Amino acid sequence: MSGAREADGGPAADESAAAGPAAAGGAAVVSGAAAASGGQEAMWNGAAGRGWVAAQELLDRMYQPFADLLASGIAGGDQVLDVGCGAGATTLAAARRAGAGGPGSGDPGSGGHCVGVDISELMVAAARAHVRQAGMPAEFVRADAASHPFPSGGFDVVISRFGVMFFDDPVAAFTNLRRATRGGGTLRFVSWRSPAENPLFTAAERAAATLLPSLARRDPNAPGPFSLARQDHTERLLADSGWAHVEITPVDEPCSMSGPELEQYITLVGPVSRLLPDLDEATRSKVLETVRAAFEPFRQGDRFHYTAACWDVHAATPTTP
Ligand SMILES: C[S@@+](CC[C@H](N)C(=O)[O-])C[C@H]1O[C@@H](n2cnc3c(N)ncnc32)[C@H](O)[C@@H]1O
Repeated sequence: MSGAREADGGPAADESAAAGPAAAGGAAVVSGAAAASGGQEAMWNGAAGRGWVAAQELLDRMYQPFADLLASGIAGGDQVLDVGCGAGATTLAAARRAGAGGPGSGDPGSGGHCVGVDISELMVAAARAHVRQAGMPAEFVRADAASHPFPSGGFDVVISRFGVMFFDDPVAAFTNLRRATRGGGTLRFVSWRSPAENPLFTAAERAAATLLPSLARRDPNAPGPFSLARQDHTERLLADSGWAHVEITPVDEPCSMSGPELEQYITLVGPVSRLLPDLDEATRSKVLETVRAAFEPFRQGDRFHYTAACWDVHAATPTTP
């Protein structure tokens, strides 16, 4: 893995982010500390992974509709691969469907199964703890999905909730995933649309930009939450990786956070959160005050509302590979 990339689960700002209630007056920024940290593998095994795991309950609650969407296409008996599975919520939702008729139902198991793959040891450890509790037909592999030698044609369905935007070489990665999928098998993932359509996620870094010189300008074309924001780009990548029948449709999901949840989100997720521990007390207070104010336009009563503006991406392998 190479390069200076952003790795927060929710998107952040780029030049096109000047829209929506929190969009006024901010530079396009990304954490300089993140950029210097040695690529996605280091980031997800470091502060980004720790923050994501600590905020997992909140993130899983907000993003549950996307896990349900991905699981809805899975049939009993399917062999499923969940890419960038994180702490495993989507893997478990998929395993529940794939193994329908299995343990606990009184019926014989269908033999369906879901493998979650993630580059982060922290994420995989959290996922394994969840699957032990849930007793589902799921297992987890710590590996780089871009290059891992999955069994050729071993999966019927490949899914991902926000886990396929971080590849340094997306064509090589999506080609590897296609090889892992049987002829006529399918790929389905959700990814973020543009930062302009997701202004809540850009709020913290735009607000904090002037206070944090180490927040650097984001490259919207680099691996990161927005790397698949452009529909035509994603279509081309998938076609170049040998996927057929590519269909990309927008999906909008209303989400909200309570005040305490927003506080968790600000301090655990995204580039600003990762700089907070290294700030002196006065600067940290100033940054938090500024960032909290930037979320006020999203407040309705005691909750903060936003729309997660995403793509629902489908593709299939050609039947004769
Ligand atoms: C935004 S998180 C999403 C996690 C999970 N899918 C969810 O929705 O809760 C992105 C995940 O992709 C993983 N990831 C990034 N690059 C990867 C790669 N090359 N191979 C496997 N996992 C990767 C990260 O470690 C992280 O867990």
